Amino acid sequence: MERLVYPGSFDPITFGHVDIIKRASQFCDELIVAVLKNPSKQSAFSLDERVHMIDICVKDLENVSVKSFDGLLAEFVRKTGAKAIIKGLRAVSDYEYELQMAHINKKLNPEMETLFMMASAQYSFLSSSTIKDIVLFGGDVSEFIPCEILDIVNKKIRRT
Ligand code: PNS
Repeated sequence: MERLVYPGSFDPITFGHVDIIKRASQFCDELIVAVLKNPSKQSAFSLDERVHMIDICVKDLENVSVKSFDGLLAEFVRKTGAKAIIKGLRAVSDYEYELQMAHINKKLNPEMETLFMMASAQYSFLSSSTIKDIVLFGGDVSEFIPCEILDIVNKKIRRT
């Protein structure tokens, strides 16, 4: 497969995301991590901060690039020339939403496939929201996010 898009909010990126990026990048020539710029969804981190943190985490992966997108994912994918997107599934609870999104995206861009990859078991409970909650209340998230972005996340989220 030539080009694959891995879309998300990445607010912030976690080891779960990094795991999908590493595994998916082995199945394509180029993996584009696509970061949503969504004015209607309140993010803890700015778009620039989210992109910067992902850049740090993927710097050693030669066929991975990071881009931001605005608007419909289906349109962004069309513009990149990618034939498919990859989504991670952690549990059955992710399935219903992802099924709906896959069908909607197929309607909007019939040339685009949605591929699913199971999250590795050790990350199946991880989410960006829980990371932010743990940090907010003074907990340690060094097991859940790469150490290179730990300071950025702690400084932004931790209550002073
Ligand atoms: O990490 P997330 O928040 O689960 O990622 C969700 C994302 C970015 C993949 C999804 O919200 C998305 O594709 N948004 C762009 C708008 C869009 O195309 N929505 C689908 C049609 S309504």
